[in-house]
Amino acid sequence: MSSRTRLDAHTLRRDFPIFEHPVHGKPLSYLDSASSSQKPRQVLDAMREFYETSYANVHRGVYDLAERATAGYEGAREKVRALINAPSLAEVIFTRNVTQALNLVAYAWGLDNLGPGDVAVVTELEHHANFVPWQQIAKRTGAEFRVIGIDDSGELRFDGLDEIAQAGNVKVVAASLVSNTLGTINPIDRLTAWAHEQGAIMVVDAAQAVPHRRVDVQALGVDFLGFTSHKICGPTGAGALYGRRELLERMSPFEMGGEMIRKVSIEETTWNDLPYKFEAGTPAFVEAYGLGAAIDYVTGVGLEAIEEHEQALATLTLERLGELDWITTYGPPPGRRAGIVSFNVDGVHPHDVAQILDSEGVAVRASHHCTQPLMRRLGIQATARASFYLYSIPEEIDRLVAGLHRVRKVFG
Ligand SMILES: Cc1ncc(COP(=O)(O)O)c(C=O)c1O
Repeated sequence: MSSRTRLDAHTLRRDFPIFEHPVHGKPLSYLDSASSSQKPRQVLDAMREFYETSYANVHRGVYDLAERATAGYEGAREKVRALINAPSLAEVIFTRNVTQALNLVAYAWGLDNLGPGDVAVVTELEHHANFVPWQQIAKRTGAEFRVIGIDDSGELRFDGLDEIAQAGNVKVVAASLVSNTLGTINPIDRLTAWAHEQGAIMVVDAAQAVPHRRVDVQALGVDFLGFTSHKICGPTGAGALYGRRELLERMSPFEMGGEMIRKVSIEETTWNDLPYKFEAGTPAFVEAYGLGAAIDYVTGVGLEAIEEHEQALATLTLERLGELDWITTYGPPPGRRAGIVSFNVDGVHPHDVAQILDSEGVAVRASHHCTQPLMRRLGIQATARASFYLYSIPEEIDRLVAGLHRVRKVFG
């Protein structure tokens, strides 16, 4: 299948065993891929085969099995590198998830590079994973913490940047590429240009972007970018951080122990080469291998086709929900958002909405989505959220809408 081919979600769905299992006697409509994606057989099989044929600890043994395990792990690193077009393998660090990737930057870069008179900047849309670490590192170092606001359609307000720049030396700008709550696609290239004009580094949370669209760290010009395996059809327990080599080389390690050292004596310890300096302890190498298999699967389908498919589903959902005057949707108009639609039913708590939908086999997330500052900006506590992936089909949107009519009936 070429990357330009439109994807056939009904056929792809057959790769995902989860859809063979009904929920409450109904077919599963899984509309929570922004939270975590389902896993295709190809990934499950790859991990099982690794355990059955190639399992030993990596980077430690000189025997054949250990070498094969190491080759599998390092092969996955090359797949991550190619996926995001990082210049070198030294700049690709495996982490536990994107949260750990972002904390690594906040601690290992932030503690040594921020201080009084400096400013750390995030956005009002950020997931707590890219908000709280910067807020807390700013507090610890005495730096200012500033937030780029959003307009009423949930898009970043660039007119506030000058005021932010006046708060001190802007040293870091941290932003998501795609908002997990509103689906907003942030203009990271524009924000990166501004960050670099200020002499700041640009840190990108690409958790909702890398699985769904082509992301090229060199084209974006960013300094750090993280994503998480479980949202790209891969297993839990793995994530990746890209970091620009000059910055990584100047940074101290984030965690310490085995693997990340070169030489240890009672007086002194020296650090291993990149990327191992930032990979303390036995890594989740089978999970990293599974991530590699997931990358093969997703790129085999084609990221352009996935993006197009999800945008079509988001547009359809917005149209269908737009016909119901008792539903409020949040976020940018179709075309300017990814495959994520947050909404509320008038007078009904989103948890109740999600519970009734569940009884119809429809899985949506009801929460603040780890974006409490955004909820405050929107003047709400929570939303229900439907989100899509390559296996999502229009019939699931039909079932969502039918379920919402039931919600209305129960609470109307
Ligand atoms: C934008 C964004 N950032 C960060 C995260 C955190 O991901 P993880 O829990 O895998 O670290 C998520 C997951 O919900 C997310 O959507």
